[in-house]
Amino acid sequence: MPETVRIVTGKQEMELQVVEGTEGEKGIDVSNLRAKTGLVTLDPAFMNTASTESAVTFLDGEKGILRYRGIPIEELGERSTFTETAYLLIYGHLPTREEFTRWERLLTRHSMIHEDMRRFFDGYPMTAHPMAILSAMVSSLSSFYPYALNAKSDEYRDITIARLIAKLPTIAAFSYKKNIGHPFMYPRNDLEYCANFLRMMFAVPAEEYRPDPVAVKALNLLLILHADHEQNCSTSTVRLVGSAQTNLFASISAGICALWGPLHGGANQEVVEMLDDIRHKGLTAQQFIAQVKDKKSGIRLMGFGHRVYKNFDPRAKIIKKACDEVLEKLGVRDPMLDLAKQLEESALRDPYFVERKLYPNVDFYSGIIYKALGIPTQMFTVMFALGRLPGWIAHWKEMIEDPSTKIGRPRQIYTGPRETHYVPLEKRG
Ligand code: ACO
Repeated sequence: MPETVRIVTGKQEMELQVVEGTEGEKGIDVSNLRAKTGLVTLDPAFMNTASTESAVTFLDGEKGILRYRGIPIEELGERSTFTETAYLLIYGHLPTREEFTRWERLLTRHSMIHEDMRRFFDGYPMTAHPMAILSAMVSSLSSFYPYALNAKSDEYRDITIARLIAKLPTIAAFSYKKNIGHPFMYPRNDLEYCANFLRMMFAVPAEEYRPDPVAVKALNLLLILHADHEQNCSTSTVRLVGSAQTNLFASISAGICALWGPLHGGANQEVVEMLDDIRHKGLTAQQFIAQVKDKKSGIRLMGFGHRVYKNFDPRAKIIKKACDEVLEKLGVRDPMLDLAKQLEESALRDPYFVERKLYPNVDFYSGIIYKALGIPTQMFTVMFALGRLPGWIAHWKEMIEDPSTKIGRPRQIYTGPRETHYVPLEKRG
């Protein structure tokens, strides 16, 4: 017998089906609730609402588990590359050698952007935030590939996906070059994805540049760890926008905007700025923690807390270890890392954080690695976007290929005025 839940409203009774995922999580299917009872559910911020079924990523916030297509994040971080993980997320399986060769070739051969698009950069002020440029440029890609506008057509879907993944590092690096007034460095097909990105970021035409293998490995790891996180704010945005059958470029552009917020992908930048500020003011970790606990201060310990992880964030564990290794191998001595560790230690001993189940999240240490790689703070959220791109695409693809997908359109409980009447301007007090 399938499990059901009975609800009683006045004299009416209704059975609701319980659906169960492959890892045993259960949810009440309320899709017929309004039709049968006239009621809707109210769940601000989706604290209890599964917006979709999905086969892309599994996470268990209590146990600190994260798996892409069933494979634990720890294994992918240790053994995979970012482009291979991207393929896994998007196509649902690890690529065969042949599939991987083709995939890699697509990602290198499509990395240039149209020269007209390169000129768009001239119009931005030097101080433009790279996330503003990134979202605008990704949306603009739709104007260069009009056949990608029909989201439902699968004819050009694969090439559109490859184009987007191939071009995002180029756009990201150009936005940085614009910011510092350096000439753009065009992509090179003989370099792997992360090495190519580092070269476009840090090379100048005046001299040879060889990406440091330690930096390339660290970047691969960081991008893998950020590659998907099921129905987070930006992914849900991509799915919602895409549910209107909006093309891939525009849907991803919306996701980039959602990621920009300081409570989401903007947190890695906020963490480093917070650490900088603490050092600047000469505060100890304990003094800062005391400020955070004082609710009147409105200060949060950035990089701490997560809507889903309530024991630990498995990505934070991997990043903390990588942070120590990368800084040591690159010979970087950063007092920020010591301060971050002191803050973590103080917080994890403090009842305020323990009671609220607040642990370091993926962003607590990632900014310190990015900083050690030479990536400026303003670019941190862009780095997050580079990593999250395959996840967004995987969800968009899953949604658009599902024949049962309908346009996303939540309900509301209206709390405004009852019917009232228009008053002409001259009669208003
Ligand atoms: N510092 C201090 N207190 C915190 C923090 C924090 N970082 N995070 C949560 N709290 C407190 C809240 O004040 C609240 O306390 P209360 O119960 O006394 O009111 C309680 O913990 C619950 O917090 P909520 O904001 O209700 O938790 P929610 O699940 O809505 O928010 C979030 C999760 C947004 C991540 C939050 O923990 C936060 O703001 N963290 C800092 C920003 C950050 O690091 N974001 C990155 C998240 S990971 C990512 O997007 C990649």
